[in-house]
Amino acid sequence: MLRLAVLISGRGSNLQSLIAYTAQDTVPAMIVKVLADKPAAGLALAEAAGIETETIDPSLYPDRASFEESLITAIDKAKVDIICLAGFMRVLSPSFCRRYLGKIINIHPSLLPQYKGLNTHQRALDDGAKQHGCSVHIVTAELDDGPIVAQHQVAVNTADDQDRLAARVLAEEHKLYPAVIGAIAAGLITIRTDQGQLRLDHRSGAIPGHIPGMEQHMQWPLPTCPFHSKEMAEK
Ligand code: GRF
Repeated sequence: MLRLAVLISGRGSNLQSLIAYTAQDTVPAMIVKVLADKPAAGLALAEAAGIETETIDPSLYPDRASFEESLITAIDKAKVDIICLAGFMRVLSPSFCRRYLGKIINIHPSLLPQYKGLNTHQRALDDGAKQHGCSVHIVTAELDDGPIVAQHQVAVNTADDQDRLAARVLAEEHKLYPAVIGAIAAGLITIRTDQGQLRLDHRSGAIPGHIPGMEQHMQWPLPTCPFHSKEMAEK
């Protein structure tokens, strides 16, 4: 059973998609802890699902190092295999990222490496981008820069404004993040560290469980992840 911690700062819609996904008996993954850096709305979703929550407020600590020490204590106590960032609005220090190298993953609302950081949807619109989307990547010390695990493209429509585009991307995030977690839990994706270097291995297979909006029997690699399929083809 893959044990997950989910770190949030806000509404927690990605958290909710992970809660619904991991609640299925056929999915060998469980969320054991939800952590927030503020009284995030998403904490109520975890509590409603009977998941332990904890808020660690950085303003109560003298510096980032002591705040992260508390985070580390909570994470290590929960004995988690993977730390999922889901709208966690804090940049984690290089030493924190190194400590959990290969164990922290994040969902980002753009086709990385495009549009790292904030306001991704507006920046894509301002650039006249034809394709936008979301990415799940491994977290390293560089912001939004770690190896990409999976992506989903969303076509930009001429009538799009920021909110419309964000809503369509978010709907895909809610499928992509659970699919990646399912693939990791089923051993279809393995993330290893070799002398401080990340190594990502993939094999094809059935992703356990069901994700609303996806076909009943999902296969890894996802057909909608062109970058991912390309990497596989080049092996
Ligand atoms: C999502 O768009 C995610 O990609 C980004 O932050 C947002 C979090 O939304 N990292 P929610 O709290 O999961 O609804």
